Amino acid sequence: MDLPMDLLGRGLRDLRISVTDRCNFRCRYCMPVEVFGAGHAFMPREELLTFEEIVALVGTLVPLGIEKIRLTGGEPLLRRGLDDLVAILSAVEGVKDIAVTTNGVLLAHHAEALALAGLNRVTVSLDALDPAIFAKMNGVGAKVERVLAGISSAQAFGLPVKVNAVIQRGVNEGEILPLARWAKSAGVDLRYIEYMDVGETNGWKLDEVVSGDEILSVLSDEFPLVPRDPAYRGEVAAHWSHGDGAGEIGLIRSVSKPFCRDCQRLRLSADGKIFTCLFAAEGHDLRGILRSGMDSSVLAETVRSIWQARTDRYSEERGRAGLPKAEMSYLGG
Ligand code: GTP
Ligand code: 5AD
Ligand code: SF4
Ligand code: SF4
Repeated sequence: MDLPMDLLGRGLRDLRISVTDRCNFRCRYCMPVEVFGAGHAFMPREELLTFEEIVALVGTLVPLGIEKIRLTGGEPLLRRGLDDLVAILSAVEGVKDIAVTTNGVLLAHHAEALALAGLNRVTVSLDALDPAIFAKMNGVGAKVERVLAGISSAQAFGLPVKVNAVIQRGVNEGEILPLARWAKSAGVDLRYIEYMDVGETNGWKLDEVVSGDEILSVLSDEFPLVPRDPAYRGEVAAHWSHGDGAGEIGLIRSVSKPFCRDCQRLRLSADGKIFTCLFAAEGHDLRGILRSGMDSSVLAETVRSIWQARTDRYSEERGRAGLPKAEMSYLGG
């Protein structure tokens, strides 16, 4: 079967599945508490795709090119039985890599079950080591030690760990070096992310973005860094190796150096809509097709034609007026 290409010549390879729109953090850049406070209505349970529905969908998408799966949220560890989902996904032929992106606060409780279920690796979001900055950024006063314990636990059960740190001017740029020192000693691949204008609620301003170049210049004062080639086409982060050969750091520069040209990612929201861009205004509903009892070929042909019509390259066109964007906690980072 031919693999679908979009109108910019990009294939379909990565699927990011949001398993819940809920989170136990309220990071200001993602779910500001004024918007996602006590009165916020999250998705009712019956709206969520069941694990069986997710797996059926993945089975249909693998022949279209999907090889990598990332489970996200919200906070994916809030979805009960996530390890069961990992186990059934890892049994789908053609799925080569399954990762989870988590805030890490519950990871120590789940690392063993996830590893046993066949998870390949974990990405943990960690924006600061300083307890006060971390508590302020996560919006709920969560303690950094719990996240560090989650990371150690994942490593102890053999899961390679990457850490994502979003750097925001006036908030945590002083954490750039402490995070790098810690990551090197802890043996994790650390990636700094430029603060993005994702969604409509975080009040993003360009002058709050600390560019990748700026981050690199701070790091270079302390660490001799050597650029390395991308490991594969479409790698989101650009990487530098430490001069002494121990570990590496990455920059995700979606504001200053967009990487849309090689974007092979499809996102699935917890209620079964697919989004062809992180900055899309609307998704396409697949849950209706899944629940209608139609043949799986209908699902495959629907996704194929959506992908073939795709022209998204938001980060390269940033600043152009458009429709209101969906929130990252809903459609999955
Ligand atoms: P691996 O390299 O396989 O570990 O995956 P990854 O880098 O895609 O995973 P991860 O979820 O850790 O991505 C890191 C962050 O980069 C995301 O949380 C987003 O902030 C950003 N990002 C990932 N994909 C995209 C994308 O398609 N567009 C934009 N603009 N940002 C993205
Ligand atoms: N800009 C950049 N990264 C963001 N993330 C969430 N919101 C933003 C934003 N506005 C990151 C989280 C997490 C990943 C899922 O996306 O910190 O690491
Ligand atoms: Fe939750 Fe992650 Fe969003 Fe923070 S960035 S509020 S941890 S989903
Ligand atoms: Fe892909 Fe859209 Fe991100 Fe560009 S902005 S890399 S098209 S998800």
